[in-house]
Amino acid sequence: MDLETLKKEVLSCKKCPLYETKTNYVVGEGNKNAKIMLIGEAPGYNEDQTGRPFCGAAGKVLDELLNSIEIAREEVYITNILKCRPPGNRDPKPEEVKACSPYLDRQIEIIKPKIICSLGNHATSYVFKKFGLNDKLSGISKLHGQVFEVSTLFGKIKIIPLYHPAVATYNANMLNTLKEDFKVLKEL
Ligand code: URA
Ligand code: SF4
Repeated sequence: MDLETLKKEVLSCKKCPLYETKTNYVVGEGNKNAKIMLIGEAPGYNEDQTGRPFCGAAGKVLDELLNSIEIAREEVYITNILKCRPPGNRDPKPEEVKACSPYLDRQIEIIKPKIICSLGNHATSYVFKKFGLNDKLSGISKLHGQVFEVSTLFGKIKIIPLYHPAVATYNANMLNTLKEDFKVLKEL
């Protein structure tokens, strides 16, 4: 199984009703050998229009953050829990996460990242449960910037929860907090 095969599969997915309201599937993009994988929540308006993850306002913030630690967007892999946009950017429903997350699981298995950054509460909750960190799960305001080491079938990896870059589009202080947290990523 490779990323191209997986992508083809997603591009015809009808496993949940979101395929009917989306414009484009947003599978993910970046380096298939990435050491760092960034996981967001779901496509927003711009992502839905273009089929590319984090290409709108939140994406601009993400680019600025990667820039601030001199990591190119092309070096990392960026995706979301849901591959289709929930109408009006509402929160993902548990049944949608259940239907869609096997794609994310397979992306993780193929890429085998050394570091996973979960962006925001939804992604952090999914990643923590997936990697057996249930007892450590808390809100993102408490977890952001902390490093959690877990064992996987492909070795030990680090999980770093971060604020969702979208928060910095409406709260300027958050950009500084995010920049500080990205320094942790740089050090690793
Ligand atoms: N927010 C997300 O969670 N993902 C995107 O791709 C864009 C905005
Ligand atoms: Fe399939 Fe995921 Fe889109 Fe639902 S959100 S239709 S599971 S790709």
